[in-house]
Amino acid sequence: MPEADNAEEKSYFEDIPQRNSAFFLKGAGAYDWGMQNRLARVFNPDSGKTVMLAVDHGYFMGPTSGLERIDLKIVPLVPYTDALFCTRGILRSVVPAATRTPNVLRASGGPSILKELSNEQIAMDMEDAVRLNSCGVGVQVFVGGEFETQSINNMTRLVDAGYRVGLPVLGVTAVGKDMVRDAKYFRLATRICAELGAQMVKTYYVPEGFETVTASCPVPIVMAGGKKLPEIDALTMAYRAVQEGAAGVDMGRNIFQSDSPVAMIQAVRKVVHEAMKPEHALELFRTLKSEFTQPVEA
Ligand code: 5RP
Repeated sequence: MPEADNAEEKSYFEDIPQRNSAFFLKGAGAYDWGMQNRLARVFNPDSGKTVMLAVDHGYFMGPTSGLERIDLKIVPLVPYTDALFCTRGILRSVVPAATRTPNVLRASGGPSILKELSNEQIAMDMEDAVRLNSCGVGVQVFVGGEFETQSINNMTRLVDAGYRVGLPVLGVTAVGKDMVRDAKYFRLATRICAELGAQMVKTYYVPEGFETVTASCPVPIVMAGGKKLPEIDALTMAYRAVQEGAAGVDMGRNIFQSDSPVAMIQAVRKVVHEAMKPEHALELFRTLKSEFTQPVEA
């Protein structure tokens, strides 16, 4: 038992009202503490942005170029990442549990690239996401796709399960085969995800009207990278997306298929968190690339 606290003088600061501070993230003011805290681990509260590293491609594509050995090529990037977007299989098998970097887990799956991709189902229990100390789960939503309703149902079921434990859901807008990738499509797809409960949405960048996509989506949008581009183009795309309202990026191939992934992720961080201009970020990329040789242990 601690001894009784008999101090005469205590500091109650009666004249200073307790301050209520607004939560920093768009649309997230009404969530419970655990949900907000997890979001504050994915998005940096100082910049309001995130650089997520997407390495979940194997869940339908197998050992994608650059991800053949996640232990050797991706684990060294984890310290530069705000949140690792991966499958639970990769997390358990190769990501050291001592990492301080939060994870967001791919929670939908089913078909491989050999089949109809929109025919996904929920691929993990929310209980396992809690067990893995996840800060979110991601689910593919195929607006306009053959299994549109099923994929939206996957998302809404995960949103309900997430609210039970305080875990946010990332709705990932997958482009249906016959849909045009334009602002009109992404306004539709991102808004559906948010209206049906996703606390964050991932979508592709479009050069025309991206600011209308971010403006009409009431929750944070993170930009997906898409296929590998020259570094200057990928940095420019990330810069524009953030300037036009994105709360960061969830990039994969444009980082891990770069000549120097560790240099590229640091350059992307500067663009996202510090609004560094793409040409300066490219210079930084080149400098870091010349300084760094990624060790591959035998
Ligand atoms: C797949 C995904 C991936 O995480 C993401 O699209 C891959 O990132 P990138 O396009 O930047 O390689 O959601 O549908």
